[in-house]
Amino acid sequence: MAVKKLVNGIFWVGAEDWDRRLFDSLIPLPDGTSYNAYIVRGRDLTVLIDAVDPTKKDILASHLKDFPKIDLVIANHLEQDHSGLIPYVLERYPQARLLATSAAKDLIITHLHVAEDRIKTVADGERLDLGGRTIRFIHFPWVHWPETMLSYLEEDKILFSCDLFGSHLASSELLVEDEKRIYEPAKRYFAEIMMPFRKIIQKNWPVLEGLEVQFIAPSHGPIYDKPAFILDAYKKWIADQPENSVLIAWVSMHGSTARMVDHLTWELAGQGIKVMPFNLAVADLGHLAMSLVEAATIIVASPTILTGLHPLVAEAVFLVNALRPKALFAGFIGSYGWKSRAFDQLKAMLDSVRFELLNPVQIKGDPRAEDLALLTKLAVDIYQKHQTAGLI
Ligand code: FEO
Repeated sequence: MAVKKLVNGIFWVGAEDWDRRLFDSLIPLPDGTSYNAYIVRGRDLTVLIDAVDPTKKDILASHLKDFPKIDLVIANHLEQDHSGLIPYVLERYPQARLLATSAAKDLIITHLHVAEDRIKTVADGERLDLGGRTIRFIHFPWVHWPETMLSYLEEDKILFSCDLFGSHLASSELLVEDEKRIYEPAKRYFAEIMMPFRKIIQKNWPVLEGLEVQFIAPSHGPIYDKPAFILDAYKKWIADQPENSVLIAWVSMHGSTARMVDHLTWELAGQGIKVMPFNLAVADLGHLAMSLVEAATIIVASPTILTGLHPLVAEAVFLVNALRPKALFAGFIGSYGWKSRAFDQLKAMLDSVRFELLNPVQIKGDPRAEDLALLTKLAVDIYQKHQTAGLI
């Protein structure tokens, strides 16, 4: 891997992680990822913006050989995939100071054990003159931790956005060359990392609209030299209005719940509603998360096991609750053997979302014609709910 020049005096010094398949020991990374770090040279000062994951220390060390002097290190975000090597960088450049938000200071000390006198906090809107180049710091909390900020290089119109606008995609290309190719990794990234903070991004969006941006340089995935593509995608993803679609997260043990899901799927499809069923026994949770970005209704379908939800369903419900999608409605269907507390469990788990709960359809044993009729009615109810919500 080599240093790449973006424009004169601005370089990518990050690392591709082609083989990584899980983030946070949870999130599937089918396309690997990258950790982007950038050098910006002014006439007087040279800065490093973010670092890379600690597993890629050798690559960063090799890239930094081209830069004998770094005066300042900017930490836009303290998660370890960007900050983990900051102590190494500060040791390598003993004169360098670390710039971050005041909210980051405590995290720098507790997570990275950096001495307090190496840290300088920067205010929202504060400018740093590098000599012919000016970086403006924009506090932008919760993209994706509370301490995050963006760094905007005014003369070159480059927004260093760290996690915001990132994509989990390892690539040899510095710039996005194929927008169709980047769309899914970018949406996957949004769904898994940014969706819980959708409302906060929405609130802070006018700040972004006030910037003239020629490049968006995130800390994962390639750089956008046509930023309108990702800005337009985010505008749609953070908007409150879902689409006329239903996501069904389901598991079946002996086929009864599967038959219920199949019936409901085709009844909904017959109403012109897009249906996205995920058999959790085989589904990629990343695809499920991506479908949550726009779904208007979420149906959880579970057999009853040991009186409650199937564990795979419980895991998916936990994820839905944590990701806080924009869905308006949620429902529960499933088959049970003799007794079930599954719906009560589901309601208790959905404590950070405000879905309107539809009447559950729980069936004892294998569904008969009269049971399937209840699912047909559920499909009609969902259609009417979507219509009332203005989605049809
Ligand atoms: Fe890429 Fe929140 O770290």
